[in-house]
Order: sequence, then structure tokens, then C-alpha cells
Amino acid sequence: MTSGTIHTPVLPVEAIEALQITSGATIVDGTAGGGGHVQRMLARVGPSGRVIAIDRDPDAVERLRARFSDPRVQFFENNYADLPELLDEIGLRSVDGILLDLGLSSDQLADRQRGFSFESDGPLDLRFDPRRGEPAYRLINRLSSEHLADLIYQYGEERLSRRIARAIVARRQEKPIDTATELAEIVRRAYPPASKRGEKIAPATRTFQALRIAVNDELKALETALRRFPEIMETDGKLAIISFHSLEDRQVKQAFRDDERYEALTRKPIRPNEAEIIDNPRSRSAKLRVARRLS
Ligand SMILES: C[S@@+](CC[C@H](N)C(=O)[O-])C[C@H]1O[C@@H](n2cnc3c(N)ncnc32)[C@H](O)[C@@H]1O
Repeated sequence: MTSGTIHTPVLPVEAIEALQITSGATIVDGTAGGGGHVQRMLARVGPSGRVIAIDRDPDAVERLRARFSDPRVQFFENNYADLPELLDEIGLRSVDGILLDLGLSSDQLADRQRGFSFESDGPLDLRFDPRRGEPAYRLINRLSSEHLADLIYQYGEERLSRRIARAIVARRQEKPIDTATELAEIVRRAYPPASKRGEKIAPATRTFQALRIAVNDELKALETALRRFPEIMETDGKLAIISFHSLEDRQVKQAFRDDERYEALTRKPIRPNEAEIIDNPRSRSAKLRVARRLS
């Protein structure tokens, strides 16, 4: 594990503005990662304010604890979906604002032992919390071709899911698939050549996204959070969510529109400006939506 973070926060100004933090407020960062947003929250909550910072990844939490020595912030290794239980444990009934910045951090991407990057030769794990659930290499060596294809189609919105699933099954009949590089190569070969593709993204992008969503049960966590967060938000409290793909953005948009406890404050999502995209290319697909808790 590295001691520092290499993660650049996405929409740093817009996300913090969206929370409309006042002095003395209690704010939750449900996906604290490298702590970029936490730092900006601390600058806003004033001397009597408080930040509750959560991440599922034990390495991230260890790095965060080493980075911050401010008594106004507490760090927890938790799933943000379990925030109501966590608040209960620490004796808090409600909070004034919550931020979720979904997906993975650059620190996780750079850790070659975790399989997030296509170039990593360590195990294809893809779990945020490596102590819980099933690593992706087990899943792809276990599921039937149909099940794999459905998963890659549903969570990766990948049109070539059947072809990719067949290629995975053919390969694993020779030997189990262990690493991210192996999987990226299988997907690349299942794809038409780059010259025949209109898209710029790497062939393995959607397949990796699908497996990551599956092993971390990411859509379930978001759905649970959207349903439960109003229970622990103060009236007029803000919920800001940054998502990176349409499956998540759709869920957020629908909840903010259909759940009568929310009032959507963003009709269209807030996107990073060009300068941010140049400075931090990872931000290019980010969408920020914000809602207010109605009484
Ligand atoms: C994009 S990063 C957040 C970066 C952070 N905002 C910053 O400024 O450094 C997303 C983080 O969310 C964490 N995460 C993903 N799903 C989670 C969940 N259900 N509960 C808690 N943390 C989660 C990941 O481990 C990762 O560290």
C-alpha cells in the first residue's frame, strides 16, 4: 500500500457548492477515497462542524487516517448503504449533507495487485473490499456462458457480450483466467479490429465495468442508499451524487424524480468543464446530480 493518494477529485468545486455547507454542519462523504472532497468539506464546516468519511476499501481508509489528523473528521470502513446503522452506532440521528462520488479511485486503479487496470498482472480481483465477497477471477471461471453474457450485457451495456462470454469460456477450458491482462487480451481478440470500430474506448472497458459492478454489488448499494438516505437527512439537507455511467445516473435521476421525499435541484446533471477534463481526463464521463430533502 502506498502512503499518499494520487487521486484527483472530480467536480471538486461544484460538488462542494452543491452541498451548501454551513458552519457547524455535519456532512457525510460516503466514498471518501483519497480524501479530496473531505478536505474541501473540512474547509466549510467551521470549527464546530463534523465530517463522517466512509470507504469500503480498507487500504483507502488507512491512507485517509494517515493523511488527516483533524479531530472534526472520523473515518469508517463501511458500505455507504449501511449509513443509517453507522450513524446509530455513533449516536447521530441525522446529517445535513451527503456526497457520493461513485466508482473507483486512481489509487485503486494504480494498485497492480487488484486487477482494476487492464495492464495489471496481479489477480483479477476487482473488489473494493478484498475481504468480502467473491473476486472477479472466481466469477469468470465459474459462471455459464449465458450467465456471463447476460452480466456483461446488463452491467456493461456491451453489445458484443455473447461473443466475449464465448471467448472467456473457450479460454478457461484450456486454463483458468487469473489476471486482468489475460482478460483484457481475450476481450480485445473477441472485438473487431480498431479500424472497424467507431468508438474510442478500449475494448475491455465495458467488460471490466460489468464485472466490477457485479462483484461489488454496486447498483444494489446505490439503490439501497437512495431509498434509505432520506431517513437520516435533515429537512433541507442535500444529497449530491457523482456517477460515471448511465446505469448509475439513471438510478439517481429516477429516484430524485419519483421519490417524493426528494426535490431535484439539478434538472440536467452538472458536467465538468473543458479545463477540468483536460487536467483530469478521468472526469470526462462524470455527472453530478443534487437533491434536497423535503420536510
Ligand atoms: C471515485 S472514488 C472517490 C474519490 C474521493 N471523492 C476523493 O476525492 O478522493 C470512489 C471510492 O468509493 C469507494 N466505494 C465504492 N463503493 C462504495 C460503497 N458501497 N461504500 C463505500 N465506499 C465505496 C471506493 O472504494 C473508492 O475509494
